[in-house]
Amino acid sequence: MGISVHWSWLAALSCLLCMGGEVRCECTETNMQIEGGDYKLTKQLKAGSMLVYNCPEGYYPYPAMTRLCQPSGSWRPAPKRFTPQRCRIVECPDPSVLEYGNVSPPQEKYFVDNETTYECYSGYTMRGSSSRVCLPNGKWSGSTPICSRDSGDHCADPGIPAGASRTGNIFGIDDTVRYSCNGNLFLVGSKERVCQENGQWSGKEPACYYKHTYDTSLEVSEAFGSAIKNSLTTLEPTGDIQEGRKIRVSKNGTLNIYIAVDISESITEKHINDSKKAITTLISKISAFSVNPNYEILFFSSDMFEVVNIVDFWDQDMVLSTIKDRVNNFVVGDKNTGTNLNQVFRTFEERMGLIKERVGEEAFKEHRHVIIIFTDGAYNMGGSPVYSVKRIKNMVYMNNTGPSREEYLDIYIFAIGEELFDEDLKPLTAGIGDKHYFRMKDVENLHETFDSIIDEEDVKGLCGLHKDYDTGGKDSKRKRYPWVAFIIVQKDGISKKCLGSLVSPDFVLTAAHCFPFGTLPENIIVEIDDGDGKVKKVKTFKTHDNYDINAKVEEKVKEFYDYDVALLQLEKPVVISTAARPICIPCTKETSEALKLVGASTCKQQEQLLLKTHLEKLTFLTRTSNTVNEKDVHAKLGENRGECIRHALSAPGIDTDNPEVPVTENFLCTGGRNPYRDHISCPGDSGGAVFKNYEHRTIQVALVSWGSKNLCTSSGGVVESDDTSRDFHINLFRVVPFLKSVLGNDDQDEYAPLEFLEI
Ligand SMILES: *[C@@H]1O[C@H](CO)[C@@H](O)[C@H](O)[C@H]1NC(C)=O
Ligand SMILES: *[C@@H]1O[C@H](CO)[C@@H](O)[C@H](O)[C@H]1NC(C)=O
Ligand SMILES: *[C@@H]1O[C@H](CO)[C@@H](O)[C@H](O)[C@H]1NC(C)=O
Ligand SMILES: *[C@@H]1O[C@H](CO)[C@@H](O)[C@H](O)[C@H]1NC(C)=O
Repeated sequence: MGISVHWSWLAALSCLLCMGGEVRCECTETNMQIEGGDYKLTKQLKAGSMLVYNCPEGYYPYPAMTRLCQPSGSWRPAPKRFTPQRCRIVECPDPSVLEYGNVSPPQEKYFVDNETTYECYSGYTMRGSSSRVCLPNGKWSGSTPICSRDSGDHCADPGIPAGASRTGNIFGIDDTVRYSCNGNLFLVGSKERVCQENGQWSGKEPACYYKHTYDTSLEVSEAFGSAIKNSLTTLEPTGDIQEGRKIRVSKNGTLNIYIAVDISESITEKHINDSKKAITTLISKISAFSVNPNYEILFFSSDMFEVVNIVDFWDQDMVLSTIKDRVNNFVVGDKNTGTNLNQVFRTFEERMGLIKERVGEEAFKEHRHVIIIFTDGAYNMGGSPVYSVKRIKNMVYMNNTGPSREEYLDIYIFAIGEELFDEDLKPLTAGIGDKHYFRMKDVENLHETFDSIIDEEDVKGLCGLHKDYDTGGKDSKRKRYPWVAFIIVQKDGISKKCLGSLVSPDFVLTAAHCFPFGTLPENIIVEIDDGDGKVKKVKTFKTHDNYDINAKVEEKVKEFYDYDVALLQLEKPVVISTAARPICIPCTKETSEALKLVGASTCKQQEQLLLKTHLEKLTFLTRTSNTVNEKDVHAKLGENRGECIRHALSAPGIDTDNPEVPVTENFLCTGGRNPYRDHISCPGDSGGAVFKNYEHRTIQVALVSWGSKNLCTSSGGVVESDDTSRDFHINLFRVVPFLKSVLGNDDQDEYAPLEFLEI
């Protein structure tokens, strides 16, 4: 104890000394140790530095989570003499709030890894988890157990979450239940829930949090993912679509997304880098939906740094890459003490006002607003944002209350940091139903969290969605190319390999020449690992009616590959997931959406977007052992085409001197070394998709058909072209009637037809 006294005296003395000479005092590390853990300092021992305690998983720092170095050279809060700083074991809220049942074992407190089981009294049935484990983030695994008796109530008993109390025991239409949390727990989620006409409770089940309770990234991803998707899409049942629902964005509405990131000095540079990554991931993910929001993005401390202004979207074509660049290029200056959260909300309010002024009252009604804020909530200037939030609500709700207008405004708060000011932040959220308040320790993995929000059920029908980076794990390649199909044809003792692409859950598109005359569906095997068995049987297949390899024998073309397309119908549809999903094909409505073509779009527009330059970079795949690799090529179009197709004349079996005889307008030509050295196809690549990525979507523009020269060894692989080798791919824009006749056929009940554009 003597040491402690001595130390305080010393600190005070050194402080006096430095106050004299215009230098600020430094804090000291004496007595800062934590039993069972360690700490880090954000700005060494300078004033404004934060000391952040760190404990192993399943423990949390107690009594303080952090301390801040004051200009006087002392820490706030100051270490307590009789409560030494230590790592305490994580506790979960009391589960014995269960009604009409028993919780075992009965304990006064429940700690991490403690297991509990739940049993209902006789005559009562259980919903929820009958056993739960206390998790390291301070929550129970599984879901709230509920014991209830069928009493004919309109809504089911909503139960009582661990650590909570409930008032309200009648569950008829319009009856309300209210929750509060016991002891030093606080409530996150709906404080009040109303039994609705549809038999569901409004809002979301609340939960009781300790200061040491956090949301895991999986929880955030699920909850925020489903919430943001509700903002991005409106789901419409579509009678004859098998999946039962399909995404439709309200076309006449505009979505405005406002993002603010706290960079006050309590937050480190790594935090800012991680936040930037999270923002850019989020906006790219949003762009994969068929919606183009306008963005307002700012960083804030005592000052505000607006990196993307929503006004810029009015008269400029703001592309995703510009927005991302602006976020990434933002550099934090030195002077950023203090946190002015109110200024952020006032800025957003002002921007909304400008939008309203510009578009007028009526059109403003169709605008949706999503505000997303990352902060620890320690605002210390500018006053409370509560009133600004209230004014924003009034503006969007048009002074009406009730769910009809409430769905036009969502305010999500990501409370991030070691020490969070929940009581100040929670009231700032807005929006119905979904969870809007998230409590996280750091932003480190938030970009992954945002990234996975796209994996949810709702978007599974979207063609061409894929991961554009290595996800690790053995299905990483499948997630990059979820549409790829391996095709094996076994006939007369010969086995032939081709590639194909999944174009709908039921159909694989490939080359007709993969199926020699007389091939039967049972000779064909399709491999797509969708988690439901890799090998898919083929029900039937159809080649293009005009495909005839002998059609130009008389014109000295031994093998003629025009119309080299076939569609295989699988016996069972593929189970759609991140690892198995169709590619987008030309002239469908979905492809127009993927390309963000608004209004009544045409096939021509799609083609112009996808094959827009006379050297269009495209990609196809090659099978190497059990995986695939990319081959990069450039389609020679326009003035480049003639020189490219000329090399067809050197192919074996071609004796004409007119290259247009074997290479009709239906082919795209790639290969050669000028101006870029392309890759060249190998025999096993036949039928594979020649594709282009557009943001997070993949669109197939052609399929691999034939080449002038075989430069591959029997094992295939990634092979470079030489001067004279060329490949010819069937341009899918030229075979749309065939695709439509099968895939767009709505005169049958076997599969959901794709919607093709009129022209
Ligand atoms: C609960 O966890 C605490 C702390 O780890 C442990 O001491 C106790 O034995 C556990 N109780 C049960 C019933 O497992
Ligand atoms: C927007 O579309 C909806 C549904 O299609 C329609 O009811 C509404 O009147 C439209 N609003 C405007 C402003 O055009
Ligand atoms: C943050 O990003 C910048 C620019 O990319 C980089 O120079 C810096 O080292 C990064 N800082 C941290 C702590 O990761
Ligand atoms: C909402 O109410 C405020 C104050 O009562 C009023 O100034 C404002 O014009 C109203 N707004 C609308 C859209 O009716």
